[in-house]
Amino acid sequence: MTFLPALRGALMLSAVSMTGILLAGPALPQQAPVALEAGQAASAWEFLPDYHLPRRAAAHPLDAVVPAPGIAVEASSPQFFGLTATQRTTLTLKTALAAGAPFSVELWVLDHVNQPVGALLSPRGMTAGAPSWALGYRDGVLVFGPLDASGTPLLSAPAPEEGYKERWYAVTGVYDGATWTLYSNGVQVAAAAGPAATGTATLDLTGYLANEPYMEIANLVRGAALHDRALSADEVKAAFEARTRLVDDGRLTDAALHFTQPPYLNVPSETAIELSWETDRPAASVVEWGTTKGALQSQSFAAGERLGGMTISGLTADTPYFYRVTATDAAGLKIDSGLLSFRTAPQPGQPFTIAVSGDTEARPHINNRMSQLIWDERPNLLMLAGDLTDGGSAEKRFEWTHEYFVGMGALFGRVPVIAALGNGEDELKWYRHYHRHPGTENYFSHRYGDVEIFVLDSYLETRETAEPGFRARQKAWLDGALRASTAKWKFAIHHHDMQTSDEDDYGDSWSETSTHGDAQVQADFRGLFETYNVDLVFFGHLHTYERSWPLRGGKVDLQTGITYLQVGGMGGNLEDFAPNKPAFSRKTMRGHHYVMIRGAGDMLSVETFDIEGRLRDRFDLVKTGAGPARIVGAP
Ligand SMILES: [Fe+2]
Repeated sequence: MTFLPALRGALMLSAVSMTGILLAGPALPQQAPVALEAGQAASAWEFLPDYHLPRRAAAHPLDAVVPAPGIAVEASSPQFFGLTATQRTTLTLKTALAAGAPFSVELWVLDHVNQPVGALLSPRGMTAGAPSWALGYRDGVLVFGPLDASGTPLLSAPAPEEGYKERWYAVTGVYDGATWTLYSNGVQVAAAAGPAATGTATLDLTGYLANEPYMEIANLVRGAALHDRALSADEVKAAFEARTRLVDDGRLTDAALHFTQPPYLNVPSETAIELSWETDRPAASVVEWGTTKGALQSQSFAAGERLGGMTISGLTADTPYFYRVTATDAAGLKIDSGLLSFRTAPQPGQPFTIAVSGDTEARPHINNRMSQLIWDERPNLLMLAGDLTDGGSAEKRFEWTHEYFVGMGALFGRVPVIAALGNGEDELKWYRHYHRHPGTENYFSHRYGDVEIFVLDSYLETRETAEPGFRARQKAWLDGALRASTAKWKFAIHHHDMQTSDEDDYGDSWSETSTHGDAQVQADFRGLFETYNVDLVFFGHLHTYERSWPLRGGKVDLQTGITYLQVGGMGGNLEDFAPNKPAFSRKTMRGHHYVMIRGAGDMLSVETFDIEGRLRDRFDLVKTGAGPARIVGAP
């Protein structure tokens, strides 16, 4: 790749710049020994973002793994191919590495963002002018070896076009006392003789994450190791393959019994709620629940599959409940979710608060940030408009276990979810595995107090191809369900866009005409929404916020129109809008976001917040009879 020579000189890693003062930082990654099949790891670390809800809500089951090392930020940190250091953690070796001694060093990277980010692992405690070494990843480039006078490592190679399952990169360096060798996903990509290695007792792991707000080292680097000998090529390959098996299985670590799906609440009604959980290995589980901690009833599940699930029924409307999931594996190891909580659905006529967003996709750090903001509002229900993962197909279970549940799991234990599916859920293997909702179809409706929520499958062309007749079946069901609905408010949620001024998904608006939405979604759903006066329609797919004017028959109708909300703001790569505003578009906002709906009696307010918690849009609806709702105040 031709860009490499130009980038090599940009690596400015000097001994002097490595001696900044460490500041106390947020504790977050978890450490645990890696069990490599090949070779004995002298020192190894695993990292996972330590996402909790705040204060007394914190009850994350992965606490059980291991205490986290501190993270520090140093203003004087070096540049790495033009990236600025944002975080650093110091890793202490079990045994100090002697100067000139052979060693092998590994980074295990999950890069699933579209902005340039990087990480470097290097000895700490170097003296100015002494030769040192570094192992690093920056999207597009891998580096390893002793540093020259300009701070450039001896070896560099292009990162593979596609990592393991497109997103994972094992960067391994081996020094045998004379030759430095760089491996990419278990395959040698560069080697050369060079100066002897420096000795060290500690390593610095530095993250270069300025391009991704809220990203932390543990989002990018999931493992590191230093072996006090030179691994053979076969051992490097075996170590890579051992890491990939965890990814394949959707397990975060070999080191501890843990939840790969923390307790996950779905579809709360007045009298019941769905609960599921999954452990990294078969384990016997006990679910306890009740209205007071001292009087919980329980149900036991024998060790079988990893996934557990049940309907908790016989509940009372609008009532706080507490619950706990514990699991015990065959060796007697135990894990405890902690005492969690939810509230059953309100009865009709009672106030309600619902959070809405979509496209959680591949940014646990944004998922966590938005979760914290949503939790502040204490909604008793969260609606998600699909693309829970950005490609969580059958072979990519890790997008659920290593991304979706890592970012959202803390909130999911306390705020139940109603989730539509998107194209990101692909053939639906894992969507169906992890979700519990009514019926066996991909569409359903659910009553929540004064609201009926119609969840639709908008992946129409793909579904129809796989299952001829699907569109007609779903449409007939929607017609009947809307006609039968007695709810005061009717919300629809699906993934693909009914009406959008996105720049290029429906024609490149910078150079040609856009159709402004999915023609099949418009054909199947819009007429029914208008016939039955659906009040609000939510969809995602595009990662910007947009509110339409009230629309009927394709035209603005302030008296009887339907408001469409594009809410794909929970974590996907941000997108952009057409260069000019179509007539249907009322409000646009480029940024991660969520929506809060608050209803009481005849009134409904809709507020949209950005990632800093700032109010970016608001409107109110009033409905006094059986007809359509109207926006009150300024439309
Ligand atoms: Fe999508």
